[in-house]
Amino acid sequence: MIKASNLRKVYGGDFVSVDNLSFDINKGEIVGFVGQNGAGKTTTIKMLTGILRPTSGTVAINGADIEKEPVKAKQAIGYIADNPDIFLHLTGSEYVNFIADIYGVSEADRKKRIEQMADRFGMEDSLNKKMLGYSHGMRQKMMVIGALVHKPPVWILDEPMTGLDPNAAYELKKMMREHADEGNCVFFSTHVLEVAEKLCDRIIMIKKGESIYQGTLEELCEKHKNKSLEDIFIDMTQE
Ligand SMILES: Nc1ncnc2c1ncn2[C@@H]1O[C@H](COP(=O)(O)OP(=O)(O)OP(=O)(O)O)[C@@H](O)[C@H]1O
Ligand SMILES: [Mg+2]
Repeated sequence: MIKASNLRKVYGGDFVSVDNLSFDINKGEIVGFVGQNGAGKTTTIKMLTGILRPTSGTVAINGADIEKEPVKAKQAIGYIADNPDIFLHLTGSEYVNFIADIYGVSEADRKKRIEQMADRFGMEDSLNKKMLGYSHGMRQKMMVIGALVHKPPVWILDEPMTGLDPNAAYELKKMMREHADEGNCVFFSTHVLEVAEKLCDRIIMIKKGESIYQGTLEELCEKHKNKSLEDIFIDMTQE
């Protein structure tokens, strides 16, 4: 569903942020993207979603090249950015309806989906208030609702749990599993290794923009016997 081939991003002519990065995310999978601060996760995610143009390499979403068929590719993506502080002068409801307009979601479908998701996240009473007055976690919840309102098959989420309370994080994790089990996929970055451990079918670990591990956590733990995931992560990303 996501095919990244030889992605490379050079900032400012000489700083290589992501290099030689290739992976496939398949139907039914939740794949976690891990790596230290500055490893290149957000840069990669922005190339996958067509926000940043790669210096070289290609991205295909359900077979549509993100540069050659951007609208087709982007219609399939639900994207959550790493910062929810946008459109703060809109109410939650105005924001999510604006996103639904962009994606051409019918009135009936959007009403149902917004109600469902607002209920899951306990946001029903806040929808008609300006997002400027929301807490960080409430803004994050609206970003999730906005990203999923058009029922995208391919979820690409940049640190989606940040700021969510345990109840909302639990709901989101449950939604991610349901979504993958329905034959879709989820690719998300996280610093919370327990989340990766519990939720992911596979992980992709990057260091200084290059892939250093792709596979299941069981295989990784098998290779590093008697070590916790935290120890393995620290060893691999620092060595
Ligand atoms: N617009 C930019 N111009 C120049 N350098 C950039 C730009 N954006 C990111 N970088 C650099 O690219 C590298 C990767 O940054 P990126 O934001 O992709 O990391 P990350 O893995 O998402 O980190 P974090 O875990 O802190 O979110 C960093 O060294 C960063 O300084
Ligand atoms: Mg980041």
